[in-house]
Amino acid sequence: MSFDLVLFGGTGDLAWRKLMPALFQAFRHGSLPEGGRIIGVARDNLTDDAYRELIQSRFAAVEGAKRPSPEEFKQFASMLYFQRMDLSKPEDYAKLGELLKQRNADTVVMYLATAPGLFTQAVEQLAVAGLNGPHVRLVLEKPLGHDLASNREINSAVRKVLTEQQVFRIDHYLGKPSVQNLFAMRFGNALFEPIWRREYIANIQITIGEDLGVEKRGAFYDQTGALRDMVQNHALQLVCALGMEPPINAHADAIRDEKLKVLRALKPWTAESIGMHAIRGQYTAGTAYGERVQGYRDEPGVDPESRTETFVALRTEIANWRWAGVPLYIRTGKRLGSRDARIEVSFRETPHAIYRAPVNAANKLVINLQPKDGLELHLLAQAQDKRQRNGDRHAGPQLAPVQLDLDFDKRFGTERVGAYERLLLDVIDGRLNLFVRSDEQEEAWRWVEPLIDSWASDGAPRPYAAGTWGPSASSAMIARDGYAWGEEQ
Ligand code: BG6
Repeated sequence: MSFDLVLFGGTGDLAWRKLMPALFQAFRHGSLPEGGRIIGVARDNLTDDAYRELIQSRFAAVEGAKRPSPEEFKQFASMLYFQRMDLSKPEDYAKLGELLKQRNADTVVMYLATAPGLFTQAVEQLAVAGLNGPHVRLVLEKPLGHDLASNREINSAVRKVLTEQQVFRIDHYLGKPSVQNLFAMRFGNALFEPIWRREYIANIQITIGEDLGVEKRGAFYDQTGALRDMVQNHALQLVCALGMEPPINAHADAIRDEKLKVLRALKPWTAESIGMHAIRGQYTAGTAYGERVQGYRDEPGVDPESRTETFVALRTEIANWRWAGVPLYIRTGKRLGSRDARIEVSFRETPHAIYRAPVNAANKLVINLQPKDGLELHLLAQAQDKRQRNGDRHAGPQLAPVQLDLDFDKRFGTERVGAYERLLLDVIDGRLNLFVRSDEQEEAWRWVEPLIDSWASDGAPRPYAAGTWGPSASSAMIARDGYAWGEEQ
């Protein structure tokens, strides 16, 4: 099978930081179909060779083990080409059409890694140039719009020229091995399903913590904020994976139908629940990696009076038969205590206690997403405490927490297929399972929109010092339900 992958935004950050390294890994692993071309597209005036040199120089910034040797790069570079394009000029699309015709590849992937403001125009122009045949697949990077209306606008422009089967909306969290493991854990084992419900589960917490600040993306982030950047997409996709019913098979639409139902079942926001169950924060100066770091408002590209949130903590519920009444907490932010993404599923306490258990001790399943990838099952075991040995018969036996620990990195090796590598190969092969359908995406926007609106018109985020786990209101919110955020490492 031959393919042409056209990378719009070919000199941009995402291209050299994520996409080129992922394509190179696929090449190194021998999984990139032979005879393919990767065509970088941008406004710059570059020859193919100059583009290859540019990409090679960028690889210096990629982590060591993933960097090509000069010989490897030479081989990889023979797939790289460059096409100068101004996305506002119809004649440039025609030229791209000519280039693609030379090869007439079986599959043509158009990857839009540009500012989302250009999506609609680019998609319309591709169609005008006849570049929307059945062998064309379109990849759309997030953010797909900044609210429900703009998301719909893009989706409707896309729908006019391509079928849904040709559209691959990327949420790179779905490509992470740990997230695929979450699906495998739930739907490849019979063990969890009977207890995966309100009768046994007391609450669920999703934490996606980042220790980095906004880095060089201040200007973009200041228009975006944590809710749009992380919750509307990555966190809600995790909610779907956790909460969905078992799909009837592993086909894309069977999976996406079930995810959509979860999004539709999320409790709608009211003015009261926004006040009580939605906390936003913004980092101030503090510490990261033992060093003093500046506050968000001092970051380059950020408005010194910015009210953009860099932290969000929410309490919600999936209001359906399986989950009604089970609190679902979501927390994410920049410059938190550590880079730590995990899901904690806490089970109910025993209905009748005959043991003395440590305070707040209950069974818990922890799904580690990153940096570790694995599962921990927290149980209670008979403690070997002093009083027991002294034979204090009146106090009842004492329990102590113990843990079953499954480390997937150790078991499968850390050199597993990365998220972008997995997803790019899926696009080339036409597998949609790990991509987001337009109705799912719209539903996710619909759910976050009341928060966006309310925060736009009301007050400012609460400050928190860089290197901490967000404003104290986040802990207070969960404490009101009698719970606490899981271990903060
Ligand atoms: C991106 C966000 O989608 O995800 C970034 O735009 C964020 O702000 C990144 O840092 C987190 O991805 P990961 O894979 O490092 O958890």
